[in-house]
Amino acid sequence: MNDQELIIRDLHVVPVAEPTREILAGIDLTVRKGQVHAIMGPNGSGKTTLAYALMGHPAYKVTKGEVTWKGEDILALSPDKRARAGLFLAFQYPTAIPGLSVASFLRTALNARRRRLDGGDGEIDPSDPTRGGISMGDFRKLLREKLALLRLEDSFAGRYVNEGFSGGEKKRLEMLQMAVLGPEFAILDETDSGLDIDALRIVAEGVNAQLNPELGILVITHYQRLLNYITPDVVHVLARGRIVSSGGRELALRLESEGYGPILRAAGYGDAVTDEGLRTEAPQVSGLGDGLASADRDEPAAAAASGRA
Ligand SMILES: Nc1ncnc2c1ncn2[C@@H]1O[C@H](COP(=O)(O)OP(=O)(O)O)[C@@H](O)[C@H]1O
Ligand SMILES: [Mg+2]
Repeated sequence: MNDQELIIRDLHVVPVAEPTREILAGIDLTVRKGQVHAIMGPNGSGKTTLAYALMGHPAYKVTKGEVTWKGEDILALSPDKRARAGLFLAFQYPTAIPGLSVASFLRTALNARRRRLDGGDGEIDPSDPTRGGISMGDFRKLLREKLALLRLEDSFAGRYVNEGFSGGEKKRLEMLQMAVLGPEFAILDETDSGLDIDALRIVAEGVNAQLNPELGILVITHYQRLLNYITPDVVHVLARGRIVSSGGRELALRLESEGYGPILRAAGYGDAVTDEGLRTEAPQVSGLGDGLASADRDEPAAAAASGRA
């Protein structure tokens, strides 16, 4: 069933800027289409690095291991080709693009996504439906349908990409991009950060509305909270660049009640529990502050451009 799976084998990843520092130290993971897997882990455990490595972010280098998607080695593909192969990454901290409307952005991204993997780049003319581009009429219909699916006003499409967006609106745009692009494998990185509970529910409903047997999902989150609304088939705990425990939904519930300490100790990371980098934050105090805590880190613009189109 290779053609239906994302298979990660012994994945080792270092930052290009600091190649002696191994962030991911041997990840093994298989996610089939139609499944939802959750990766949970303390801050600094390597969750975002995993998402970036899967999409081919230029700041990270795979030093060992392999990743195949539908039987194909995706590590050999550029980020845009990975997107065209059906992978999608929702960013933790999306970039604003003043002057570019949501609708134009999505139409350009969709036309880029539809470009054939094997052909030359010149074969798609977005303005010409007979040459692979989506017609304006069809695009408007698709966009309206997806806006309704996510309970967004039509006016949302006329706003500039992430310009002046609240944390919740940024996440809704990520969900809208996902709905319009129609990926076969979606990686959602900490989509719960900075969301109030209502917005969280809408985003989760958006994801749930998109669940289908042809879509695999990897949900990456620090908090159990999101998993109250998105039910994972499998939960994995990541610590120090390794998956130290995997189980069903009960594993997430256990993390919520006990924190990461007991699981990390059981995995032989006894000393790590007091480490700054591995300390768990109590989910109940996570409320509205999450977004503020993460506001110091911006999404690299290069990744926003290359990961999508
Ligand atoms: N580009 C980078 N250069 C150097 N260190 C990095 C880089 N990206 C991440 N790291 C480090 O790797 C560790 C894991 O980071 P990250 O993947 O963002 O963790 P998480 O998403 O689980 O909080 C952290 O200690 C972080 O500082
Ligand atoms: Mg992260």
